[in-house]
Amino acid sequence: MADTALINTELTALTLVSKGKVRDVYATSSPEHLLFVATDRISAYDVILRNGVPDKGKVLTKISLFWFEKLKDIIPTHFITANVDEMPEEVKQYGSQIEGRAMLVKKAKVVPLEAIVRGYLTGSGWAEYKKSGTVHGIPLPAGLVESQKLPQPLFTPSTKAEQGQHDENISPQRAASIVGQDLYDKISVAAIKLYQAAADYALTRGLILADTKFEFGLIPSPSGGEELILVDELLTPDSSRYWPAEGYKPGGTQPSFDKQYLRDWLTSTGFRKGFESGPEGKEGEGWVMETSVVEGTRERYFEALKMLVGEDVTL
Ligand SMILES: Nc1ncnc2c1ncn2[C@@H]1O[C@H](COP(=O)(O)OP(=O)(O)OP(=O)(O)O)[C@@H](O)[C@H]1O
Ligand SMILES: [Mg+2]
Repeated sequence: MADTALINTELTALTLVSKGKVRDVYATSSPEHLLFVATDRISAYDVILRNGVPDKGKVLTKISLFWFEKLKDIIPTHFITANVDEMPEEVKQYGSQIEGRAMLVKKAKVVPLEAIVRGYLTGSGWAEYKKSGTVHGIPLPAGLVESQKLPQPLFTPSTKAEQGQHDENISPQRAASIVGQDLYDKISVAAIKLYQAAADYALTRGLILADTKFEFGLIPSPSGGEELILVDELLTPDSSRYWPAEGYKPGGTQPSFDKQYLRDWLTSTGFRKGFESGPEGKEGEGWVMETSVVEGTRERYFEALKMLVGEDVTL
């Protein structure tokens, strides 16, 4: 296991096409394909921390690969290979830097929605429900408590904000007007099916999948027109809330395998979402995690991986 975190990839012979909060995405010699590399960067409240979590990118990649395989019959995905030997020639030289954290994917036009599915009432959904009895404007029965299982999983898309902006919860009507009703309907059906299959499986491994965010994309279809596919990472602790099923108790927050632990630490040290953090930079840019917080976060990500994939999983 690595003891240093990979914060930035340096694949100097390739063209970097985007640098997200976690992933460095490169063009390849094949115009239809992208190289998708998960670094060890970690963000909380949409802010990237200055230090990273060693191996986190590998854990996220392993979890995504596991789910791409398991859910591939529900909808086609962007995944092609994670084996560097099968990647384009110019990529192979970077094997030692990217092995275990890279995927070759189909380049898609990303649909500008965060396709969130919620099976349980928590996070921003719970916050809205407490105020107005709704989640993304959808009315829910009265009397639900925090972390309660919803009568059925809800598709609650949000906007996909430009870099540096925060995503915004919107109503289904508004989401449909952004992408068109047809595409909206297809995405909502696929997202609910994916969530349901994943949540059912997770439960057999002792995990509740409280909610998750999918991203979808469009690629040219062989028959003309466009084909809808699943893109991005899939059902990782960065994009999902996993709770231990054992000890689940509605009526309050649940222990989780996601970034809640880091968020709680940030809040306790004076980080305020939307506030300047003083001379160190804007909105937490420049925040450094203590070693114990790096370790605690790392353990939680590993634990989620082991529970899902099996105790003997290796990176
Ligand atoms: N198949 C694909 N084709 C093109 N772009 C993709 C594909 N899959 C995912 N992406 C995009 O690649 C980026 C992945 O990087 P990362 O997850 O680090 O970004 P992020 O910070 O979460 O999101 P963003 O940069 O959009 O704010 C995302 O912007 C995602 O929408
Ligand atoms: Mg992302």
